[in-house]
Amino acid sequence: MDKLLTGIKSTGIPHLGHVIGIIYPTILLMNKEMFQKQFILIANLHTITNSNVIKTNKTNSYKILAAWLACGLDYKKVICYRQSDISEIPELLWFFSAIFPYSRLKLVHSFKEYKKKNQIINTATLTYPILMAADILISKAEIILVGKDQLQHLEIARIIAKKINKIKRIFTIPKAKIFTKLIKGTDGKKMSKSKNNIIDIFSKKKQIKKQIFKIKTQNKFLTEEKQFLTDNLYNIYLNFAGSKQIKKKFHVGYQHAKEEFYKLLISKFKKERKLYKYYMNQTSKLEKIFKIGATKMKEIIQPTMKKVRIFFDCY
Ligand code: TRP
Repeated sequence: MDKLLTGIKSTGIPHLGHVIGIIYPTILLMNKEMFQKQFILIANLHTITNSNVIKTNKTNSYKILAAWLACGLDYKKVICYRQSDISEIPELLWFFSAIFPYSRLKLVHSFKEYKKKNQIINTATLTYPILMAADILISKAEIILVGKDQLQHLEIARIIAKKINKIKRIFTIPKAKIFTKLIKGTDGKKMSKSKNNIIDIFSKKKQIKKQIFKIKTQNKFLTEEKQFLTDNLYNIYLNFAGSKQIKKKFHVGYQHAKEEFYKLLISKFKKERKLYKYYMNQTSKLEKIFKIGATKMKEIIQPTMKKVRIFFDCY
């Protein structure tokens, strides 16, 4: 039986893309298939690539955990842990950095994109994929649930694992399982906080409404034929309703369709929004859940860590 791992970087308030693109599909998969172990990682170290984000790191980790729980994750059935609680992860980052060429890291898409937009680049931005390799390989999971944009990072983990295994068999070679749905944001690109195109499903209703009304539509006259397939609102809407039903709303007008979409989201996520609030008011409970996850994880990883430390002659 395989082990499963998925991770979410805790960059801020969890948005609709997280919920319908990662959280629900993961929970669904775990209900459908049997896994030997199921790892749910809250990647808070990955958010620290510069000092601006340090102040909100703790709260942001709570937010992602609260979202998982609000959507029905049973933390007792999985190993749900916060990256920074497992100091062995950054320890592995160092070991792996010693066997992975710098020249190759510089070619990673996400790094090249960052470099285009920023003048100051910290080392952590470059070594981001190595930290992810540490997350992945430490779990010994065979199946890694990721979005398409993470495939190159996963490939680096595979390369590192193979390189070490050639000398001593320590790691499992992981495989990607791609989330089939790529959730588009209000501008039609992948929903992501850095693109400022998210729908904050757990925030105040006013904010959600504002974001929905920000969705760029095609502005065709009511009588004109609409190009549904390329319409942003239509495409986001399709995650929640059938095309016939949506088209009816569009025939009344874009404003009407947005209003209806807003109402639908609020009613669909009523329970989740309430639960999210409940958990965010009990951060000591969340902290306890992280502690439980860390204890389980620390125990699981010790045999692997021992082998790695022996491998690098550091035991
Ligand atoms: N880098 C991933 C992202 O931005 C998040 C992540 C970190 C992750 N560690 C992971 C995903 C390990 C899967 C497995 O989406």
